[in-house]
Amino acid sequence: MIYSAHEATPLVVAHRGSSGTRPEHTLVAYEQALREGADGVECDVRLTRDGRVVCVHDRRIDRTSSGTGIVSALTYEALSGHDYGTADDPANVLLLSDLIDMVMAWKAKPAKIFIETKHPVRYGGLIENAVLAELHRFGIGRPGSASLSRAVVMSFAPSAVWRVRRSAPMLPTVLLGTASRYIGGGAATTVGATAVGPSIKTLRDHPNLVDHAAAAGRATYCWTVNTEEDVHLCHDLGVRWLATDHPGQALAWLDDS
Ligand code: G3P
Ligand code: CA
Repeated sequence: MIYSAHEATPLVVAHRGSSGTRPEHTLVAYEQALREGADGVECDVRLTRDGRVVCVHDRRIDRTSSGTGIVSALTYEALSGHDYGTADDPANVLLLSDLIDMVMAWKAKPAKIFIETKHPVRYGGLIENAVLAELHRFGIGRPGSASLSRAVVMSFAPSAVWRVRRSAPMLPTVLLGTASRYIGGGAATTVGATAVGPSIKTLRDHPNLVDHAAAAGRATYCWTVNTEEDVHLCHDLGVRWLATDHPGQALAWLDDS
């Protein structure tokens, strides 16, 4: 068995940064997460029309910016014309490279970067290749690299995880999704994912999932864990990584576990 459940307290991953108190996917939100002591940060990535990798969750920028439009239909320059922060603290659209740069330069703690590729089917291969190219620029993801474990690539699409495994076999991966593919490792084993990634609802409905995954040699990454009860549940079940919008609060609750 590669991984044994119940071996340690869960590591806390800041979901879209410290997004409970700061605008999601902004540098300010990620710096706040690291100040709060997060063990990792999560981001969603998309390709712009001109092939830049930006940290945006939705297909459109309408919910999280002052502008409108589809990320993949706009150039980085066009996306940069809008505000992604607040009136008091404006922010530009965040490039994945700027996030990696900031996290790698954060000396207090070597946090991990959990990168979730969006639109993996429509742009099959392109987004994963672009992410791997960014990681390689920082020396992450190459065999023998000291920084290998600083990034984890995640997707709801088994094909995307498979492509990453094929191109960068040593890079940790998470297959996100619904219950059926996790029991006993399931599709995560087929595509060689390092971990399974259920939602907290899935975990509540299938508490044996962590042990089943561990028996198949997979760790568990659970999202999005925002209540004290759920943080303790993750702890008690042996979840390895929990993603939360409130990393400082989750760490405090874990201290009480
Ligand atoms: O960390 C995984 C989780 O973020 C997946 O859901 O919609 O927040 O990207 P979503
Ligand atoms: Ca995500």
